Amino acid sequence: MKIELAVGDIRKHRADMIVVNLFEGTKSPGGSTGAVDKAIGGAISAAIRDGDFQGKWGETLFLRPEKGVASHRVLVVGLGKKEKFTPDHIRQLALPVFQLAKKKKLATVASVLHGAGAGGIDPEEAARFLALGAALSGYEYDRYKSEKEGRVSRFQVVEREKAAARKVARGLAHGAKIGEAINWGRDLVASPPGDLRPDGLARAARKIAGGKVRVKVYGRKEAEAWKMGGLIAVGKGSEVSPRLIVAEYRGGRPGSPWTALVGKGVTFDTGGISLKKWEGMEKMKYDMAGGAGMLAAVRAAAALGIRRNIVAIVPAVENMPSGAAYRPGDVLRMMSGKTVEVLSTDAEGRLILADAITFAKKRYRPDVILDAATLTGSCVVALGSVTMGMMGNDAKVLARMREASAASGERAWELPLHEEYLEQIKSDIADLKNIGGPEAGAITAGYFLKEFAGETPWVHLDIAGVAWREKEKMGYAPGPTGVPVRLLVEFLRREGTGA
Ligand code: BES
Ligand code: ZN
Ligand code: ZN
Repeated sequence: MKIELAVGDIRKHRADMIVVNLFEGTKSPGGSTGAVDKAIGGAISAAIRDGDFQGKWGETLFLRPEKGVASHRVLVVGLGKKEKFTPDHIRQLALPVFQLAKKKKLATVASVLHGAGAGGIDPEEAARFLALGAALSGYEYDRYKSEKEGRVSRFQVVEREKAAARKVARGLAHGAKIGEAINWGRDLVASPPGDLRPDGLARAARKIAGGKVRVKVYGRKEAEAWKMGGLIAVGKGSEVSPRLIVAEYRGGRPGSPWTALVGKGVTFDTGGISLKKWEGMEKMKYDMAGGAGMLAAVRAAAALGIRRNIVAIVPAVENMPSGAAYRPGDVLRMMSGKTVEVLSTDAEGRLILADAITFAKKRYRPDVILDAATLTGSCVVALGSVTMGMMGNDAKVLARMREASAASGERAWELPLHEEYLEQIKSDIADLKNIGGPEAGAITAGYFLKEFAGETPWVHLDIAGVAWREKEKMGYAPGPTGVPVRLLVEFLRREGTGA
């Protein structure tokens, strides 16, 4: 889909559908919406007057004017209450627009820039979020559909004022680039688990190489040489041996420090010998969403030219039960030298992440490590599908993450890593055990990782509840959401420009 700017009057713009908007409680529409209303004989204000449309959040009004505007379909979207409106609402608005366009098989959609007029949002920012919304809402995983449905091929943002055009164009290009990277990652997450095993994830990762991005893939031999006891153990039950995928992006000055992005790449999590129940197991194909997200973040950083050295490190394994699989009761010696007693082979994510974090520290000496993982069902119980969980060992980096979260609209809620939680993961026969009992499961998993991050500033994102959606919510269609890529890009962008 092309996302582009059109400078001019939306009344004269020719597309299969034009989109205008209204804040809740507006009696007589102004701006472009007002102009369109007048041109089509007051149909919008009549709908408001008669109570058919109030501009509530998520509300839409579809009109089919005979004359007055060059396009035959007009969609008015409700922006809700002005005080509550944020840039992320602009992204969310794109979903109903694209759903309607799809239903009606429309090829071109043109929209005003929501939020920039009466909403008071900077036009460049508004454009960034609208392009993101369009790219994300236009996405569909239809690889296995025999009959592909038509898609919107062109999304245009119509801007009246020439003065704002440059900013809007810049914002649109920015949002479209992030959207493209996210959709690339979503395809990986949506792939059936038999199609995308550790070798397949590595092959896909190689595609982001080029320009300032270098991708290296390590296998079992290297993992053994580096004594990655966690990665090797979790991968043992699968016919496909583990991979360690490393994607370096050198956007910073030579010699400037690395930011390491470590992402969980379990291409399928059966639970291993601690087998999961059958119900819902198919969803465990998204247990590599953290890994895909980190690769997508590097792809986006390169597309945007972020001035920072960034390395994505993705331990990729398939957690399978077999005669060769690791067992509950086994004790592993991790790359860091710490020993871990395995109590459940289903708590595999922390084992591979621990080795990847150690690798990141030894190889790159990063000034910050961020990790993203579909790590615990406990995090889903605690926070649901509304926000990811966030934990860390450095108040400054956590604060910067909170700011990036607010700016990007991708929610991250902090859970505490109080020292007292350590008791829960102490083993009688080894340094640590890989589960901490029924209490505070998201936190004990985070604490386990903290033991490996050590002194390096580190933030852990548990995305188990938000990487995949069952039902449409918060402007996301069912399926892979691409979370936490927007949050990461915002964080890196701020770091990269010193802003
Ligand atoms: N991949 C799962 C966590 C998960 C659960 C992700 C639901 C997405 C949705 C993880 O490997 C796992 O199985 N965790 C266990 C840990 C337990 C054995 C301590 C869990 O959360 O039940
Ligand atoms: Zn598991
Ligand atoms: Zn898992």
